[in-house]
Amino acid sequence: MRIILFTGKGGVGKTTTAAATAIQCAKEGQKTLIISTDPAHSLSDAMDMDLAPEPIEVSTNLWCMEFDVYYSMKKYWGSMKEMMNAIFKFKGVKDVIAEELSVLPGMEEGAAFLWLEKFYREKTFETIIIDSAPTGETLTLLSLPQVIKSWMTKAFPGQRFAIRTIGKVVRKTTGVPLDKGYDEMQDLFDKLELIQEVFLNPEITSIRIVANPERMVVQEAKRSYSYLQLYGYNVDAVIVNRVIPQQDNVWLNGYIEKQAEYLDEIEESFEPIPIFKVPHQGKEVFGVALLEQIGATLYKDRKPSDIFLVEKPIEVETIENGYRVKMKIPFIKESDFKLRKFGDELIIEINNRRKNMFLPKFANYMKLDKHSFEAPYLTIDLIKE
Ligand SMILES: Nc1ncnc2c1ncn2[C@@H]1O[C@H](COP(=O)(O)OP(=O)(O)OP(=O)(O)O)[C@@H](O)[C@H]1O
Ligand SMILES: [Mg+2]
Repeated sequence: MRIILFTGKGGVGKTTTAAATAIQCAKEGQKTLIISTDPAHSLSDAMDMDLAPEPIEVSTNLWCMEFDVYYSMKKYWGSMKEMMNAIFKFKGVKDVIAEELSVLPGMEEGAAFLWLEKFYREKTFETIIIDSAPTGETLTLLSLPQVIKSWMTKAFPGQRFAIRTIGKVVRKTTGVPLDKGYDEMQDLFDKLELIQEVFLNPEITSIRIVANPERMVVQEAKRSYSYLQLYGYNVDAVIVNRVIPQQDNVWLNGYIEKQAEYLDEIEESFEPIPIFKVPHQGKEVFGVALLEQIGATLYKDRKPSDIFLVEKPIEVETIENGYRVKMKIPFIKESDFKLRKFGDELIIEINNRRKNMFLPKFANYMKLDKHSFEAPYLTIDLIKE
């Protein structure tokens, strides 16, 4: 089975390119599902049809689903929320606060994970395409199992066996089935853990970053690439959407020139990740026919469900007083360069040219110590200020 998740800044064309990819996979004969996890529900607009919060077959081999938090919460998380609520009340937390606390951070996104776990376990589809909400939310979604684990340890420092034992006592004295609830919760965590493993397996899951040749978008694409790498997810392609074709038009010439610069920057920064370009269509894109056209040219002669690359360009290890970060930097060819750091941004100066890379978020609180370079890997030590 293959899972391909499309991520990128708001409005870059995630839904468009994800739908185009799904249509293409279905045409090749794979039983394909495209699931949109974006609450804005733009997949139905892009496909120009009504969709539902469960998979529906829209054409041969192609299934579409628009994930709905409330629908899914009712279906999957309802009982768990009740149970958490009961635990908090049992621990003496006031009603209103218990109600608040029992909504886990990231629980909404978690419900989307549970759907994927179900499809994975039941082998319902050969290819699942995920059209996600803009970058920030996707990263939360992807780090959810870790978030839940840390939340659990904070909420229940006594750990699980204690809850189970207390649960039995509580059930005997009050009739609240706390221990049963705990098993249910454990089951949910097992599911989340399984699906996270699936997401981390590069043989199954690929992340595709969608970008436009524009300054802010390129910056965000680079930053999210670093974070995705850090979490251990495999990015196998970058899709540059809305590339304006070269043509002589006084009004657009400056823009096209600038765009060419950003395209160079993208090629340089993401090498060796394959980069696919989608031209600006000159009109709004919606409806299956136009999406099909985009899908047919998007991957050139490659199969859209292939794994285009497996790489691990960022590695982090702990050192005394900080971290050692080893990064692949394709654009440094010689060892003569200067390094500076602003927040989580690493500025690399090579012969009066400036390049930037994004470091993991924790770099904000650290300073640059030593570095060494052995092409194409740059190793830097970040230590506490
Ligand atoms: N290649 C293209 N040429 C012309 N218009 C495009 C192209 N790709 C996308 N669009 C248009 O740009 C708009 C945004 O595209 P889309 O909805 O796919 O972006 P998105 O990244 O999913 O946005 P959001 O972050 O809101 O989910 C849509 O109106 C779409 O029709
Ligand atoms: Mg979208």
